[in-house]
Amino acid sequence: MNILFICLGNICRSPMAEGAMKKILEDLHITDLHHVDSCGFEAYHLGEPPHKMAQQTALKHHIDISAQRQRLFSPIDFDNFDRIFVMDSNNYKLVNQQKRTEEDMKKVDYLYNMINPTQNTPIPDPWGGTTKDFEHAFDMIWKACLKLGQNLLNQQSTQ
Ligand code: 4NP
Repeated sequence: MNILFICLGNICRSPMAEGAMKKILEDLHITDLHHVDSCGFEAYHLGEPPHKMAQQTALKHHIDISAQRQRLFSPIDFDNFDRIFVMDSNNYKLVNQQKRTEEDMKKVDYLYNMINPTQNTPIPDPWGGTTKDFEHAFDMIWKACLKLGQNLLNQQSTQ
């Protein structure tokens, strides 16, 4: 399974999601079966590592995301990934604008729908916010990724 996390800047939420998901897959011993990546839409921080506060927040949870580099979403990602998770309605709109067919969008969902199915609950953007804002985003991301990891583990055991 190839999993892609998307946010606006790809320096705060989606890098934390990529780090959290990789850690969860490691903890569940299913890393080999899955590929995880993240990207965004704003080019301001192209090629840069995640925001310092995102790095610090992840590190508090024993996740090192310092090696990640910002990249932009491309429609080829619809081919390269099986599941694509966005953080909020603006991300969803921007992905939708780049779809080639309706089929592409079947892969796309809001990350927090893992917890609140069909509610499209946003994971708030912590950019420009406080440590608490980053922690809050991380908590939501962690919960959703944990549910996704458990689902992948269950799918594997029924195959
Ligand atoms: P993110 O936060 O989407 O969670 O990475 C942002 C980071 C940077 C910008 C926007 C959102 N920006 O416009 O530079």
